[in-house]
Amino acid sequence: MTERTTGPTTPHDPAVVVVAGALYDRGRLLAARRSAPVELAGRWELPGGKLEPGESPEEALVRELREELGVEVEPGERIPGEWPLKPGYVLRVWTARLLSGEPRPLEDHDALRWLTRSELDSVDWLDQDRPAVAEAARRLPAA
Ligand code: C5P
Repeated sequence: MTERTTGPTTPHDPAVVVVAGALYDRGRLLAARRSAPVELAGRWELPGGKLEPGESPEEALVRELREELGVEVEPGERIPGEWPLKPGYVLRVWTARLLSGEPRPLEDHDALRWLTRSELDSVDWLDQDRPAVAEAARRLPAA
């Protein structure tokens, strides 16, 4: 797989887009605990990854959640906003619905949890994911 491991090298390069999924199933949102890199390990995120050349964000989301979790998902709406990650990277988030499979932490994660709205504060989200999680929570049915 060809993957960029560094961000843009000049101020004129566009940012690398990381797409992540607010994955819903039966009124719950999926949280994934990162196992790497060391500075992010143990923190929770919306699963996703970098957009590859030629891919639409929705295609990247479907691919990433298949690779990382072993599930098939249907992308929904984009959650408005864009959040800076490390320099040269930005996070964009789509809602997604679980179509098939039970998520397993196959890559990059060592734990998964399905959270109801009232449980969303019970994990230590990555700072950059918090605004998107708050928006995703507004779209969750109360449980
Ligand atoms: O998962 P992957 O390593 O491809 O993600 C690229 C970068 O995007 C990670 O290093 C991480 O910093 C960031 N990321 C994030 N929040 C997410 C998904 C990825 O901060 N929900």
